[in-house]
Amino acid sequence: MAAVLPLVDLKAEVRPDAWLNSIIKGDCVAALDALPDQSVDVIFADPPYNLQLGGMLHRPDQSLVDAVDDEWDQFESFQAYDAFTRAWLLACRRVLKPNGTIWVIGSYHNIFRVGSMLQDLRFWLLNDVVWRKTNPMPNFKGRRFQNAHETLIWASRDAKAKSYTFNYDALKASNDDVQMRSDWLFPICSGHERLKGDDGKKVHPTQKPEALLARIIMASTKPGDIILDPFFGSGTTGAVAKRLGRNFVGIEREQDYIDAAAERIAAVEPLGKVELTVLSGKKAEVRVAFNTLVESGMIKPGQVLTDAKRRVSAIVRADGTLVAGGEAGSIHRVGAKVQGFDTCNGWTFWHFEDQGVLKPIDDLRAVVRAGMGKLG
Ligand SMILES: C[S@@+](CC[C@H](N)C(=O)[O-])C[C@H]1O[C@@H](n2cnc3c(N)ncnc32)[C@H](O)[C@@H]1O
Repeated sequence: MAAVLPLVDLKAEVRPDAWLNSIIKGDCVAALDALPDQSVDVIFADPPYNLQLGGMLHRPDQSLVDAVDDEWDQFESFQAYDAFTRAWLLACRRVLKPNGTIWVIGSYHNIFRVGSMLQDLRFWLLNDVVWRKTNPMPNFKGRRFQNAHETLIWASRDAKAKSYTFNYDALKASNDDVQMRSDWLFPICSGHERLKGDDGKKVHPTQKPEALLARIIMASTKPGDIILDPFFGSGTTGAVAKRLGRNFVGIEREQDYIDAAAERIAAVEPLGKVELTVLSGKKAEVRVAFNTLVESGMIKPGQVLTDAKRRVSAIVRADGTLVAGGEAGSIHRVGAKVQGFDTCNGWTFWHFEDQGVLKPIDDLRAVVRAGMGKLG
């Protein structure tokens, strides 16, 4: 079982494992106030949406819709909701590391209020992501569009934060080598994933799909990072964090949800080190200019470079540029020009001869990078 902690002051705890991978029972603002400054890497928050549902909602066959009418989702007024939002976001800001980021999910009922509060509190919006539901609930009354999505806001703690985690290359590689877009398609949580009680009823009215949390965690954290969820509910964040080799800390008020979350997380098997290694591509590598190869003597001024089939050639100049016919410029520009293209990756296009064998100049760049790695 994940440990369940009472709300005690944890600020003085030098060992974060006093609260790591635990669920703190209590109000989120008080529990956040008990955690040390700058102690978590990423926050995922799924707060009450303040749905303001009035009266019972029926389907056309008169069956009752299982709507979110829980006491924890009720607020007296927009002002009361804003005061609550401000309090928990401020408390989150204090516990977030300077390069940390926060995700907040919501619907049209609350997400605009949350977004403007994030900006007022000096978080820096990085993206809004639309979670498009493959199987949304119909609009039974037929008086509005079907409400088929929820919105996530992703923000850094500070405007100037540059080194927050974003696993761009891994996301792109996992998306058939196409940049990951900000509209995501997932089904709502159902089937075997949906926690049900002995009575067959849902344990939690707004359990989020694990796939959504997996995308968030894989995009914005590294193995071993600490993810905080101040509205833990059924523990989706904790279950996915544990499976993906991350640490979590959850906060939740309701004992029934805490019990369900603790049991759920205990059943999760973490993946192994090999499965969890995050792909870091060219963006994470040290930048090496072509001129470095010339300066270091690996490529000599006057040397001839060709394409892989020796159809075109260029001469290397001492300043690290190439010249081919009337065209001079970078390896990329000249490579594009000789082919009649707009762009070209000169590193893989241009080749040098090594003992009669043509090799891409990218091989030499790899040698330089390996040397830099040893120095660093
Ligand atoms: C929208 S649900 C989160 C659901 C969760 N993401 C999941 O997948 O199960 C919000 C949760 O926040 C809890 N909650 C509401 N207000 C709270 C507060 N002030 N402090 C702590 N928990 C709170 C509710 O009990 C509820 O479980």
